Amino acid sequence: MASLRLYLLLFVLLQLILLLSHPVKCDDEKDNILQGINTYRANLNLSALTHNDNAECLADEIADQFKNQPCTNTTGANTVPGTEPQFSSYPALLAKCHLNITNTRDGVILPVCVPNLVPSLVLSNFTESQYSRYFNNTQYTGAGIGSEDNWMVAILTTNTSEGSFVTANGASSENGANFVSKFGLTYHLFLLLGFFLVLVN
Ligand SMILES: *[C@@H]1O[C@H](CO)[C@@H](O)[C@H](O)[C@H]1NC(C)=O
Ligand SMILES: *[C@@H]1O[C@H](CO)[C@@H](O)[C@H](O)[C@H]1NC(C)=O
Ligand SMILES: *[C@@H]1O[C@H](CO)[C@@H](O)[C@H](O)[C@H]1NC(C)=O
Ligand SMILES: *[C@@H]1O[C@H](CO)[C@@H](O)[C@H](O)[C@H]1NC(C)=O
Ligand SMILES: *[C@@H]1O[C@H](CO)[C@@H](O)[C@H](O)[C@H]1NC(C)=O
Ligand SMILES: *[C@@H]1O[C@H](CO)[C@@H](O)[C@H](O)[C@H]1NC(C)=O
Repeated sequence: MASLRLYLLLFVLLQLILLLSHPVKCDDEKDNILQGINTYRANLNLSALTHNDNAECLADEIADQFKNQPCTNTTGANTVPGTEPQFSSYPALLAKCHLNITNTRDGVILPVCVPNLVPSLVLSNFTESQYSRYFNNTQYTGAGIGSEDNWMVAILTTNTSEGSFVTANGASSENGANFVSKFGLTYHLFLLLGFFLVLVN
């Protein structure tokens, strides 16, 4: 009986570690990059980019499309304002995030690939490359950042309706990844509660 309790205790601890480590780390990475971008902008006396959830949803979806591609392949990825990305699943990704091209075409989609997403390299790939002309631009007021594997995608939004990334009829663009991680969180919490009850009995 004692060893069963020990086993359960270890299991609970393992679940707690899983619970606390995974989703937080990924969000932290993206927050740090946005912070770095805003520091870069502050040094140029530009206003900070505000976090745009709908752009983040799309950025996550696009990063997901790229995750199996080698870093050397950015085919069809980046856009210039007023154009659409050249991959066929783009309309489906927009729909997944409840976005309409009429509210996204002024934004820019900027993917980078950096092995292990080393933060300083990701940041310089954004701000010290051909992309810098977007990051140093007063036209952009918001950003959503998504990542998957070695890919990070920044989407810059504007405060005009064509680049606002507002969702069609105000639908929430909560994406699959968020849903899964929230579902996972609830699941873990219930599991923990269950084992805790077994332990104290
Ligand atoms: C930012 O503003 C400060 C104070 O107004 C000024 O001294 C500095 O030169 C500006 N920097 C840039 C890059 O414009
Ligand atoms: C590069 O990406 C394009 C577009 O996604 C894809 O069609 C092509 O097969 C990729 N090439 C390689 C070498 O991965
Ligand atoms: C996007 O919005 C336009 C104008 O509101 C509408 O005509 C079009 O059908 C919409 N497209 C999609 C895919 O919802
Ligand atoms: C971008 O990241 C790559 C690694 O994928 C690195 O080799 C390169 O130096 C970086 N470029 C810039 C401008 O930071
Ligand atoms: C923004 O970046 C572009 C391209 O790197 C550069 O030509 C331009 O001078 C920069 N503008 C400012 C205000 O830093
Ligand atoms: C939109 O952004 C531009 C440039 O940053 C700014 O001059 C303008 O006042 C903003 N408009 C609104 C409605 O916030």
